[in-house]
Amino acid sequence: MTSTISQGFEQVYVHPSQFPDKVYQDYLAGFFSKHINHKFHYDSVKQSQKWLRIHEHYSPSRNSDDCVDAYEKCFQKTAEILENNFSLQLIGLGCGGGTKDNLLVSYLWSPERQLVYYPVDVSLSLSLIAAQKVRASYPKISVQPIVCDLPHSDDLILHLNHKKEGEKKIITFFGMIPNFYPDEILPVLNNFLQTGDILLMSANLSPGNDYVQGIQKVLPQYDNELTKDWLITVLMDAGINQEDGTIKFSIEDDKKNQDLKRIHADFEVEKDVSLKLDDQLIQWKNGDKVQLFFSYRYTTHSLEVVLNSYDIKILDYWEAANQEEGIYFCQKV
Ligand SMILES: C[S@@+](CC[C@H](N)C(=O)[O-])C[C@H]1O[C@@H](n2cnc3c(N)ncnc32)[C@H](O)[C@@H]1O
Repeated sequence: MTSTISQGFEQVYVHPSQFPDKVYQDYLAGFFSKHINHKFHYDSVKQSQKWLRIHEHYSPSRNSDDCVDAYEKCFQKTAEILENNFSLQLIGLGCGGGTKDNLLVSYLWSPERQLVYYPVDVSLSLSLIAAQKVRASYPKISVQPIVCDLPHSDDLILHLNHKKEGEKKIITFFGMIPNFYPDEILPVLNNFLQTGDILLMSANLSPGNDYVQGIQKVLPQYDNELTKDWLITVLMDAGINQEDGTIKFSIEDDKKNQDLKRIHADFEVEKDVSLKLDDQLIQWKNGDKVQLFFSYRYTTHSLEVVLNSYDIKILDYWEAANQEEGIYFCQKV
């Protein structure tokens, strides 16, 4: 699977997990079960632009030099380790706007090298933004955007796996692990990795020595008007009104792993809501809670334990000085 732009057209591969029928079934299921899949917060151009604004405003990787420095150290190390590899395959899983992948490419690219970049995201808009960002900086790189729903794309790697002799695979998974249940996403991530492949990932951490206090400290990065405006978009687009309820944030335990907690956002319904989506009637009652979003906060230790159970080893890591984000150089052993 390698192709690139031609005569102003962008060729994008769309995995069946994001074909319209499947997406619509997932969408309806979310409204019926009162659990909105977080992929629906990035679906439209409007939502991805709102998310990019939040990211610019709150993400330590965008507004803390020190956090950027941690990414740069990780990328420098990656470049040193790959010094003698002349053919690289870079797969950006959940690439978002591609800023971090683009920075990584700046460390990896040289005219003597062959580099293929796959920006993979559930959002067409974001996968294109990432593709165009990298192509604008490095026109000689082969870039192939892919749209998929990651937890349902087990076979995607089979299409990317036609590695040439001596080609090295690097997977990036930045900012992704917090938004999935660990036992949902780790088998998927593991499936992308073969022994010796490099995985670069980041996790949102709980800063300080007290895990719960650390999470409370970062709560305002979620519980704010920009984030609420982003999260309510999926409901308003379906016909729900702002006055029908309130978005409330809380800190929740992970039911399967007592060492993990997540920041959780629910839409608490304050008026009975009847909604017709196609011919389906959705009914929410006053007092119902509709799950909109969650974000796990890890510690380097808890992440290590989770990754180890899939034979993924952290070989080095860098925490931002405020300890709110960690960047991990990992390898499948
Ligand atoms: C928190 S952002 C991280 C973006 C980027 N990696 C970064 O660090 O800036 C999460 C990304 O995951 C994507 N995403 C969410 N659900 C997804 C899914 N089910 N499959 C693939 N990508 C998904 C979103 O579109 C978004 O770009």
